[in-house]
Amino acid sequence: MAKYVAVAGKGGVGKTTFTALLLRQIVKNNNISVLAVDADPNANLNEALGLEVTATISELLEETKNPKAIPVGMPKDVFVEYRLQQTLVESEDIDLLVMGGPQGPGCYCYPNDLLRKYLENLGSNYDLIAVDTEAGLEHISRRTIPHVDTMFVISDSSARGIRSAGRVNDLIKGLHSAVGEVYLVVTKTTDNDINSLSEEIEKTGLKLIGEIPLDPLVSELDLAGKPLYTLPDESKAVQAVKKILERTQIF
Ligand SMILES: Nc1ncnc2c1ncn2[C@@H]1O[C@H](COP(=O)(O)OP(=O)(O)O)[C@@H](O)[C@H]1O
Ligand SMILES: [Mg+2]
Repeated sequence: MAKYVAVAGKGGVGKTTFTALLLRQIVKNNNISVLAVDADPNANLNEALGLEVTATISELLEETKNPKAIPVGMPKDVFVEYRLQQTLVESEDIDLLVMGGPQGPGCYCYPNDLLRKYLENLGSNYDLIAVDTEAGLEHISRRTIPHVDTMFVISDSSARGIRSAGRVNDLIKGLHSAVGEVYLVVTKTTDNDINSLSEEIEKTGLKLIGEIPLDPLVSELDLAGKPLYTLPDESKAVQAVKKILERTQIF
């Protein structure tokens, strides 16, 4: 069965960077099939991975609400499934699905049920599914993502960031779906940040699994609009993610 990994935290803390680097590390060292799911409405995992996206799931679900979009004689569920398949971006290392923006008004129960079934079937084709989540963890609470084996809560290296990570942890505890291990990752750290933040970290109840230092190479690529996937092995961020992965039981 596929392992589900999710990455949570408020905007700007480094979720997408961490997800891309985690996938880079996993794919490099294991011969496994990976599906990345960008569940953040502010979607940019594709850029970090260097993949081109043509359509998001939200756009497609919106389209299926228009009866004229469905070819005459085609059952609606067949049409939705066919269009869902078209949103999957396939590449040599990693496939990608982009959820897209929030859904508009009206009832989406029917297409969401189809989406849930589609993802369940699709999931069985992969060894690992990694989800770059949105702040409210909606796709997990709605069970579009069926369960999570390993959850990484990301915080930047500020007291406010750590407190926010604590609130994300409370949200995770309140989810009705099963979540296995939950780890804290503090990103963009310099010098002694972790020691200074230790009291705040303790208050969250989260288990710190590692830190990712502020890495000038990450900033450089970001500035140039280049995929993070291409970071060299010696990058500080790459090394840090490697260590974090080794401390988990993912692969
Ligand atoms: N370790 C790091 N070193 C330097 N810059 C980083 C690091 N991690 C993230 N960033 C930068 O922080 C910003 C937000 O990161 P991003 O991963 O997009 O956050 P999120 O997905 O949580 O919104 C980006 O400009 C990114 O380049
Ligand atoms: Mg992001």
